[in-house]
Amino acid sequence: MRQALVMGNWKLNATKASVEALINGLVDAAKDNATVEVAVCPPAVFIPQVEALTADTAITYGAQDCDVNTSGAFTGENSAVMLKEFGCKYTLVGHSERRVIHGESSEVVADKFAVAQENGLVPVLCIGETLEQFEAGETKAVVEAQLQAVVTKSGITSLNNAVIAYEPVWAIGTGKTATPEIAQEIHAHIRSWLAEQDAAVANKVQILYGGSVKGANSAELFGQADIDGGLVGGASLDAVEFSKVIAGASA
Ligand code: PGA
Repeated sequence: MRQALVMGNWKLNATKASVEALINGLVDAAKDNATVEVAVCPPAVFIPQVEALTADTAITYGAQDCDVNTSGAFTGENSAVMLKEFGCKYTLVGHSERRVIHGESSEVVADKFAVAQENGLVPVLCIGETLEQFEAGETKAVVEAQLQAVVTKSGITSLNNAVIAYEPVWAIGTGKTATPEIAQEIHAHIRSWLAEQDAAVANKVQILYGGSVKGANSAELFGQADIDGGLVGGASLDAVEFSKVIAGASA
């Protein structure tokens, strides 16, 4: 049985005051839904504040990205080593906003996945198709290619210590959620693609759904057999709404 994981991705949103209110507002939800792991991914500059605020709670946290390098002349970047020093458990890699806006290829994402893992972080590998690819019926081929880049670089068993987040790009921040049936079909496909290579890995790996998850749709999405929780953007910025999302993962 895979543990449910609900992860907030704050993107480029936070103030010192909002971080304090949000973390304090999630403590009860984490306690009341003890079967669900609750995690947040703040902008990197707020990680020390999140480290302090979550110290006596079950809430875990991670970064939204990490560099392919661990140190050196790479202006503006944060390394997996630094994130680990500040208590991060996770880092997202390959979020669609990094792939699209920052031009990250699947090979760069695979390098980030490897360096995160080598330095003790659990990479959350984000995959998913654009609207054009969805309409062209290319979803399965796209997610397979995105997964293949990581398998080629790090091997199938690297996914024993990772999380996959399937996020159709057309559903991110648009209010358009994939129906639970569409999401389940793709999650099941991802798991069977993995199972062709290693059944134990396929059975173990948590596959999160992301894309306009909110309190009103979380229970139905997370109730699907192959959906093990969510990666949540907009709805994770409000403690009351995010608490409802978390409750939706509590079996
Ligand atoms: P959203 O974002 O929940 O605001 O659609 C999800 C994500 O980008 O991880």
